[in-house]
Amino acid sequence: MSKQIVRKAVIPAAGLGTRFLPATKAIPKEMIPIVDVPMIQHIVEEAVRSGITDIVLITARNKEAIENHFDFSYELEDTLEKKEKKDLLEISRSIGKMCNLISVRQKMPLGLGHAVLCAAPVIGNEPFAVLLGDDLIDSKVPCTQQLCEIYARENASVVGVMEVPAAEVSKYGIVGGDMLRAGLMHVKRLVEKPAMADAPSRYAIPGRYVLSPSIFECLRNTKPGKGGEIQLTDALQLLAEREKLLAFQFEGTRYDTGDRLGFIDATLAFALRRPDLAAGVREIMKRHLEIRG
Ligand code: UTP
Repeated sequence: MSKQIVRKAVIPAAGLGTRFLPATKAIPKEMIPIVDVPMIQHIVEEAVRSGITDIVLITARNKEAIENHFDFSYELEDTLEKKEKKDLLEISRSIGKMCNLISVRQKMPLGLGHAVLCAAPVIGNEPFAVLLGDDLIDSKVPCTQQLCEIYARENASVVGVMEVPAAEVSKYGIVGGDMLRAGLMHVKRLVEKPAMADAPSRYAIPGRYVLSPSIFECLRNTKPGKGGEIQLTDALQLLAEREKLLAFQFEGTRYDTGDRLGFIDATLAFALRRPDLAAGVREIMKRHLEIRG
């Protein structure tokens, strides 16, 4: 296996979550559970399994529940201890011990690029991973680990990509460039949410990156783009003009859990593989499908 040199990750979770209203009016989108595990815990677990030790969480007002989730919960844990509920106690404690979590507030939701730039003082001058707080990737080898291995081998920043139907390119940042081998591209051009006719390829960036610290200088030079927001994709274009930038087609299934249907898809997929729930869920689904005809 390649040498692990990426120790820090940024998880931007300061967005408003408008696609999930009213649920997100007072509760962070990232705390909505997939079955019984909050979305953000799946993301942190991926980072930790990939060798990340320090996680910089980009937060905003109303997001304190995320920080509390990764802390110890003395009242709850004391009660579980007294009642000798050892399994539940271990579940709660293990989340508190998972990683070193550093929170940075993004005071205004000025865009994903701006959120990543907020982490600059904590990241310093070393490569780091970025995992979006509402993008779940289910894979044998964690997606971030796949990207870290490419970074170590090629000594270049890398974005995770997946092939999408032409009709969906306008939902993503899209990369274009020269294929080095199957699944690995030298990126020359990036376009945020292009019209179908302007898309340089059908390779979309769902929300996993391993980046050199030069991205911070690129972000400082990035003007507001699509939607008036500072777009990470626009800063990546500047990075691609300065340094080698790769796109790697990762192995795994991606769920957009910030979208209602993506969330239901992930919930069913995760529930159906749980030995304690699978049979019951199948029964419920069968009943609903029969009732609806
Ligand atoms: P999204 O646009 O998917 O998330 O941003 P959102 O803003 O939370 O949700 P909607 O679109 O209004 O429903 C992608 C990621 O970037 C983060 C979000 O938290 C999400 O993880 N983000 C976005 C920030 O941290 N800050 C921002 O200013 C914008």
